[in-house]
Amino acid sequence: MSIPFIDLKTQYARIAGKVDQNLRAVLESGAFINGPDVSRLEKRLAEYCGTRHAVGCASGTDALMMALMALGVGPGDAVFCPPFTFMATAEVVALLGATPVFVDIDPVTYNMDPERLQEAVRAVEADDPAIHPLPAHTARLTPKAVIPVDLFGLLADYSALLSVAAAHGLLVVEDAAQAFGATVEMDGATRRACSFGQIACTSFFPAKPLGCYGDGGACFTDDDELLTLLQSVRVHGQGADKYQNVRLGITGRLDTMQAAVLLAKLDIFDEEVALRQQVAKRYAELLGGIDGLTLPTVPAGRVSVFAQYSIQASSAAHRSDLMDHLGREGVPTSIYYPVPLHLQPAYANLGYAPGSMPVSEAVAARIFSIPMHPYLTAEAQEHIAEVLAS
Ligand SMILES: Cc1ncc(COP(=O)(O)O)c(C=O)c1O
Repeated sequence: MSIPFIDLKTQYARIAGKVDQNLRAVLESGAFINGPDVSRLEKRLAEYCGTRHAVGCASGTDALMMALMALGVGPGDAVFCPPFTFMATAEVVALLGATPVFVDIDPVTYNMDPERLQEAVRAVEADDPAIHPLPAHTARLTPKAVIPVDLFGLLADYSALLSVAAAHGLLVVEDAAQAFGATVEMDGATRRACSFGQIACTSFFPAKPLGCYGDGGACFTDDDELLTLLQSVRVHGQGADKYQNVRLGITGRLDTMQAAVLLAKLDIFDEEVALRQQVAKRYAELLGGIDGLTLPTVPAGRVSVFAQYSIQASSAAHRSDLMDHLGREGVPTSIYYPVPLHLQPAYANLGYAPGSMPVSEAVAARIFSIPMHPYLTAEAQEHIAEVLAS
């Protein structure tokens, strides 16, 4: 039995008619840049997430970059990020000359730990690494923003994180690259991913819960001024006129072809989120009794979109045995993430020592992901469970 890690072919077979029709319409119109499908998609994305505005862009990384540029993040600013995430979360901070300050994760949800955030902000405010590990810096840093990540499709603990941010005047940029479609019950209402912070960001990389057929992403905001700034930054800081440049920006536009694909995929997205719940429930039933495995936990009131189904083995050696065994039985696996960002060579200049983010380091040594997508069959899941149990 050969099982795909993510099954985009079965999905395409379902929506081929609509995707092909949408793409043909773009080809025939010749409106490849900012065609009508881009604004159509932006309207639907904002409605879906419950925000006033959505701004399509070229990738999740560009979405984060544009968000920080619109918020004026730059040299001297401390931006708090989890170390257990994809490279891009902290990369955009460093590219803008600001300083990533890493904040360890909660061992159960793998998302930023609000108590550690509180300590990290106090440490920056007091310029005292005895309170919380700080990156190497020459001049004093100003606490400016926090980028909570909704890892593996599960929303971070926004009620706690937003109150720490409010208490310290931090801007909030939600990194929902993995969590489009996730929800949480909060203050008596259902809140969706991409609706938290001054600006939220997502990615439409093909493997994401809502993915296109190339690179794509979006920013979300309720603020009209930030909307104007995001739209300007997206096209080289353009002003009222196309060739008036009032600030620095990037080439951050979302391709019209990708918008056309996403419009077709949005039609079946809710159904796919429901299918992901079924797949996750079946995994919980099949794997729950296996010794030495820690399955994902979804706290009450939250719905994860399971961008990954990540489990922890009991040790690094146990993980490598399980992954080898699964591989031999035709089950692909992957490790998200083997090295936390504070220990990546790219951030060596920040001077973080091994042991400084103990939870991220322990999780990185034991975690691995098994196939997860809406079209995973019960038969395939039973096979995966049998291999893991043996
Ligand atoms: C948490 C997180 N942030 C940002 C990104 C960047 O998105 P993209 O690959 O679309 O640039 C990703 C993508 O993998 C991600 O997982």
